[in-house]
Amino acid sequence: MRLVFLGPPGVGKGTQVRRLCQAYGLTQISTGDMFRMAIVKESPLGIQVKSCLDAGRLVPDDLTSGVVRERLAESDARGGYVLDGFPRTLAQADALAEIVAEQGEKLDRVLYFELSEDRILERVIGRRNCPNCQRIYHTVYQPPKNEGVCDCGATLVQRKDDTPETAKARIEVYRRETVPLVGYYEKREILSRIDAGGSVDFVSDQVSQALGSGGR
Ligand code: AP5
Repeated sequence: MRLVFLGPPGVGKGTQVRRLCQAYGLTQISTGDMFRMAIVKESPLGIQVKSCLDAGRLVPDDLTSGVVRERLAESDARGGYVLDGFPRTLAQADALAEIVAEQGEKLDRVLYFELSEDRILERVIGRRNCPNCQRIYHTVYQPPKNEGVCDCGATLVQRKDDTPETAKARIEVYRRETVPLVGYYEKREILSRIDAGGSVDFVSDQVSQALGSGGR
């Protein structure tokens, strides 16, 4: 299965991708995670993209599509994947169509997660991440057993771009650059809409239904 999870920042894509990949043995490919890892390692890519992530701007299309092209050529992507946060512009969507066609494959489905802006902000601002096992928490909706500490024992961190100001900038970029992809994939008849407003389990059930399977 080759899937794209599309939607505004903080809507819950990463949370659902992790669940789906664990359940079905798919590979999670998150451009945001790849960029953040490159920044931590201070690699040439990390140095190039840091200012974009800090400001909530998109990384240039050519650079991002090149990173995804290389990632999709790796062996673990051959058995199926979920793209999380890519594509985000029409140019990236065209690049993805080209990459997938070159591999002799096709995208099976694009899941579009919808949520009102005030709730998006609430989710972004309350998010905490584990730097060790990458688990995603929310201070209210998905709290760890002990405040500030991942269930694996590591201290939780807040992403630098999860401030109200940067989150608003990311939502604005999303509206301008990414929303046109909804029509792009609707035209190709592979888009399913997901109401991201319910609990994590409720959203997982919709994901399963959209993919035509019964379980979570
Ligand atoms: P990226 O890392 O992709 O961020 P994003 O799209 O802004 O998405 P998020 O990771 O913020 O949110 P999410 O939808 O995964 O939500 P999550 O599951 O964590 O991108 C970061 C930056 O990298 C960009 O700004 C850009 O600079 C760059 N970049 C990345 N890709 C790029 C590209 N293709 N082109 C150019 N630049 C690119 O959940 C959020 C919170 O909600 C959590 O606290 C979670 O616990 C909680 N939650 C989840 N589901 C629920 C629920 N159902 N109910 C209650 N709470 C919930």
